[in-house]
Amino acid sequence: MAGFASMMARLIGSLHARTLALGPAWSAAMTQMMDAWIAQALYVVVKLGIPDELGAGPRSAQELAAAASAHAPTLERLLRTLASVGFLAVDGEGRFGLNRLSRPLTSSAPDSIRPAIVMWGEAFNWATFGQMLHAARTGERAFDRAFGTGVFEYFQANPEANAIYNEGMTTLAAVGQRKAALAYDYRGLRTLVDVGGGHGSTLAAILAAHPELHGVLFDQPHVVAGAPAHLEAAGVAARCEVVAGSFFESIPAGRDGYLFTTVIHDWDDAHALRILENVRRAIPPRGRLLLVEVVLPPDSSFHVGRLIDLQVLVMHGARERTKEDFVALLESAGFRLRRVISTTTPMSVVEAVPDGTPAR
Ligand SMILES: C[S@@+](CC[C@H](N)C(=O)[O-])C[C@H]1O[C@@H](n2cnc3c(N)ncnc32)[C@H](O)[C@@H]1O
Repeated sequence: MAGFASMMARLIGSLHARTLALGPAWSAAMTQMMDAWIAQALYVVVKLGIPDELGAGPRSAQELAAAASAHAPTLERLLRTLASVGFLAVDGEGRFGLNRLSRPLTSSAPDSIRPAIVMWGEAFNWATFGQMLHAARTGERAFDRAFGTGVFEYFQANPEANAIYNEGMTTLAAVGQRKAALAYDYRGLRTLVDVGGGHGSTLAAILAAHPELHGVLFDQPHVVAGAPAHLEAAGVAARCEVVAGSFFESIPAGRDGYLFTTVIHDWDDAHALRILENVRRAIPPRGRLLLVEVVLPPDSSFHVGRLIDLQVLVMHGARERTKEDFVALLESAGFRLRRVISTTTPMSVVEAVPDGTPAR
């Protein structure tokens, strides 16, 4: 199954490359650049709440603009473009409607990806990509160049952006890291600390699937403030402690499981090492460290992790890693990589134990 997922990802990558190669050579890069314009149109329409409005049935551009307090002629052009590439249906009276591809853009769809689209289109991400050239020239973080501060400091100071980011991450977790984390066999563990666990949606799903397991959700104070609702909705609040703090200072000690889902990839090697050294101080001799991350192939074959690598590059000045990179990083922090478990998502579970732990 895991092999199937990575095979599909590679297939999609190579199909994409071949589709671009079908036209004249000059058109491939042009098409690629223009796709970015569609991405921003998609964000604008989603941010204005148009897909939700269409949940009640087809509407004209004028009706939609009135409902969204938007400029009707401009909105109509965006809607026509999105319809032309398959994201909206248009009926005989020129009214726009939802189709298979736009239904997940509504808030109420069970597979809604609305919060992720909003997160990626917001200025904090879009303007950051605009500073990639600066990052390439200097090795500095594009985000800091665009906003004059680090990304997590920015979210701390901007509650609205912080909410958008955390909701976006929770949505991505549902299709990626949460599924990957659930693939791990937690039997035998008593307490799992989800470090940098955000609003706790992943930990809540793990606890719901493992009634004997206890949890500790650990993240920054302004982030864990949004956690109780998720834990209560999943019916696991009584088995889950919520702890606020910084993993650069200390991590709740003495538990037997430590989980990081897409956290280490936010940091360059020096910072990642500091975090892992703090886990090493906290973890008992037979504890388990689990990193849910993309594990990049060592060659240049397509993997969606290569795109995520660009995202963490501009946002965090950080990187995705190969298995060899994880081995080296973990060894420097006093851990031994035990195995890499592939999942049906682009992410794997990297399992490590404190060095000196006997092999099973
Ligand atoms: C990419 S998000 C991943 C969130 C969650 N694990 C998931 O998979 O959806 C990175 C998380 O690291 C947290 N984080 C950043 N700096 C931190 C710090 N110094 N201490 C604890 N958590 C931190 C962020 O608040 C955020 O929730």
